[in-house]
Amino acid sequence: MIIGIDGPAGAGKSTIAKLIAKELGFSCLDTGAMYRSIAWKALQEGVALDDVDALGKIAVENEIEFTFDDDADRAQHVFIGGQEVTTVIRTPEVDKAVSPVSAAPSVREALLVQQRRIGSKGNYVVEGRDICTTVFPNAEVKVFLTASAEERARRRMAQNEARGMTDETFEEILADIIRRDEADSTRAVSPLRQAEDATLVDSSDMTIEEVVKTICDLARQA
Ligand code: DC
Repeated sequence: MIIGIDGPAGAGKSTIAKLIAKELGFSCLDTGAMYRSIAWKALQEGVALDDVDALGKIAVENEIEFTFDDDADRAQHVFIGGQEVTTVIRTPEVDKAVSPVSAAPSVREALLVQQRRIGSKGNYVVEGRDICTTVFPNAEVKVFLTASAEERARRRMAQNEARGMTDETFEEILADIIRRDEADSTRAVSPLRQAEDATLVDSSDMTIEEVVKTICDLARQA
């Protein structure tokens, strides 16, 4: 079974996906981490962010893999071409570079192949922007998870603080979220949008537990 969760930056997709996976005994696929890994590698190699061919080449030539810790937390580790990039893909530099990288059709095409390869291996909670519309249009459960921009900025701020990353102000985070919403929803290829048959879950005034229960109930009914 595939549970697809799409939604804007900071809607809580990763946290929710992880808890659902734990509850149902599924694996998780964080497709945003895949775009971030390509963006990180492009920055590393000095590839221009508008060089669509070179970006696509990175995505074709480098396999992205995930591993999970064996303990209760099941923390995710991300690798590109065998190199671990778990923390370096969460910097403000990568935050900024990932929009143009994810708008490149060559990158999306190559990552679509990698995402389907991983997701075909079992029961997955897959989170991203175009999972229910493009990557797994036949997913048994489709959810569009959102929250207000301010609430998402508050959550990202708390997440950054927990990681010891305190250089960005609330206003900077909010501006980045609004900029990314705009970029993600207006790009030509696979823009962020709710699939017609997806269930809308607005988590602005919901607890994490309520969101997890709502989606697990949908999975149990499917
Ligand atoms: O979820 P995230 O913030 O880690 O995603 C990083 C970027 O990748 C975000 O700007 C949108 C893009 N993305 C995408 O275009 N398609 C996906 N399926 C997942 C993420």
